[in-house]
Amino acid sequence: MSSPNIVSKFVAMAEQALSRGDAAAAARHVSDAAEASLELAISVGPGPDRDRLLAGADEYISTLEELLAQGAGGEGRGRVLDKPKERLADIAGMENVKAKLSEMVLPLRHPEVKDLYGIRAGGGILLYGPPGNGKTTLAKAIAGELGAAFFSLTGADIRSKWHGESEQNLRESFQAAKACPFAVMFLDDVDGILPQRGADQGADNRLVTQFLQEVGGFAESKNTLILLGATNNPWDVDPAVLRSCRFDHKIFVGLPDQPAREFLLRQQLGKAPLDAGVDLSPLSARLAGYTGSDITSIISAAKLVAATRFTQGGPPEVTAEDIEASLLTVPPSANSQLMARYEEYARSSRA
Ligand SMILES: Nc1ncnc2c1ncn2[C@@H]1O[C@H](COP(=O)(O)OP(=O)(O)OP(=O)(O)O)[C@@H](O)[C@H]1O
Ligand SMILES: [Mg+2]
Repeated sequence: MSSPNIVSKFVAMAEQALSRGDAAAAARHVSDAAEASLELAISVGPGPDRDRLLAGADEYISTLEELLAQGAGGEGRGRVLDKPKERLADIAGMENVKAKLSEMVLPLRHPEVKDLYGIRAGGGILLYGPPGNGKTTLAKAIAGELGAAFFSLTGADIRSKWHGESEQNLRESFQAAKACPFAVMFLDDVDGILPQRGADQGADNRLVTQFLQEVGGFAESKNTLILLGATNNPWDVDPAVLRSCRFDHKIFVGLPDQPAREFLLRQQLGKAPLDAGVDLSPLSARLAGYTGSDITSIISAAKLVAATRFTQGGPPEVTAEDIEASLLTVPPSANSQLMARYEEYARSSRA
């Protein structure tokens, strides 16, 4: 025999499953909640309690239908990813992005500020900047850290040659995100998903329009959405997409500064034994102009040289010479023309 407590327990389990991105488990728990509500409705006899229970069961059944339509039954396109393992503590620099993010989740962590200041959790950030400086890694870390369901989309996930299917794909992803109490929707290479609309680009235009509708719908939803976009080419993204309430914060993610470079050197070296002759502080100063991924490659190559030497009976330490040798093979990838273009973009869009 069901009790009202059992219904709320199933609902809580469904919410937990959704927030860890397990739509299939959520569907099972929602189905249990519906069944328990119906059982209770039968047992209480006619009256307002029964009406309330039946209305509750109706709501759970619609949620279940939505989850199944999104593929929670095991087929269809499941876009909810596993909770990412990255953490904000693994990200070098980008303090401004981390600070903006804490503001966005403040009402979730301190519900009392919601009514007192009339502020809502959630919002959108567009990260733009040159390749290889941690935009994608940061987006994953955000979802990993916040315990939100994480939806990650690229143009390849969304775009279809069949008429109308691209918009449908985008719609399905947003529907799935809306069903979660707290979701992060990450649009990677957003210029490839939502390019500037033009007169002769029907498919792009429809996709942008669909996106605007979907994010507009979120304003009415009681669930929290953090919308993240990343791009190397912010000037190619449709301007309507960039306007307030969508990506209301545009943050430039440039090359790592010296502390961030030193952080990356240490992080990439990890537990590798290090020769006493290696001094990471002056090394990080010399690496101005290198991207985060350049630094990752330099250290990977140096560690591989040391590891090979070690397996051949040599000493285990990574030496300054190993690092110098790999520096010769990895030139800095920053491109001054591109950097100037970002500066110009930041000025002109006051981003
Ligand atoms: N700031 C950073 N903190 C931590 N790791 C970083 C950082 N920058 C780069 N990396 C490392 O460099 C690699 C590339 O980073 P990532 O893919 O996140 O860059 P991106 O900015 O998304 O590049 P793209 O614009 O080409 O998509 C990753 O393996 C990541 O570990
Ligand atoms: Mg990326």
